[in-house]
Amino acid sequence: MSGLFITLEGPEGAGKSTNREYLAQRLREQGLDVVLTREPGGTPVAEQIRELLLAPSDESMAADTELLLMFAARAQHLAKVIRPALARGAVVLCDRFTDATYAYQGGGRGLPVERIAMLETFVQGDLRPDLTLVFDLPIEIGLSRAAARGRLDRFEQEGTAFFEAVRHAYLARAQADPQRYSILDAGQSLEAVQRDIDSLLPAMLERARG
Ligand code: TMP
Repeated sequence: MSGLFITLEGPEGAGKSTNREYLAQRLREQGLDVVLTREPGGTPVAEQIRELLLAPSDESMAADTELLLMFAARAQHLAKVIRPALARGAVVLCDRFTDATYAYQGGGRGLPVERIAMLETFVQGDLRPDLTLVFDLPIEIGLSRAAARGRLDRFEQEGTAFFEAVRHAYLARAQADPQRYSILDAGQSLEAVQRDIDSLLPAMLERARG
C-alpha cells in the first residue's frame, strides 16, 4: 500500500484550519484511516522548531536560517509521522508542506527556487503530495482575518507585498500542474467552500482506494 498524501495550502486567514477538520471528517466517514497533521510541526521536536520559526524576536532571522529550519522540521515530520502513515496505507492530510516553502521562502523572501528544490530532494527524495488544495483569497481579507485572531506571529507581521508574492507563487505553481492542484475560492461563504471540497471527494476516494 502506498497511502495518499493530500496537502492544504494558502495564505493566512484562508480558512485552512476549519476546512482541514471538515475534509478529515468526510474522509473518515468513508472508513478511511486519516492522519491529520500540520507543518511546520506535527511531532514534539518539529513543534519546537515551529515555535522558533513563529516567535517574533528582536534578532531578525536570516532567510536561509528560516529555510533550513522549515526543512529540519519537515525531515522530523516525514520520519516520525508522514512516511510511517503512508507506509501503512493511511491518508495523510497535511496543513501546509513544501509548497509553502516555495511560496513563503521563495516568493515572499525571494530565495532562489533552485535552493529550495535542492533541499526538497535532499529531505524528501521523490516523495511529493498526490493532491494539493490551494485555498486562495485576496490578501486584504486574509490579513484582516488573521489580525482579528489576536497577536500576530513573525510571518503575519509581514506587509502586503510579501503576501502578494506568496499568493502569486502559490497560484503559479498550481496553474503549472492542474493534475495535482485544485484552487479553491476561499473568499466565498464557508458552505460554498465546503461544497467545492465535496466536489473533489470522489476523486480523492478513488485515489485512496487505488
Ligand atoms: P500556519 O499558521 O498556517 O500553521 O503556518 C505557519 C506559518 O509558517 C505561515 O505563516 C506559513 C509559514 N510557513 C513557511 O513560511 N514555510 C513553510 O514551509 C511552512 C510549512 C510554513
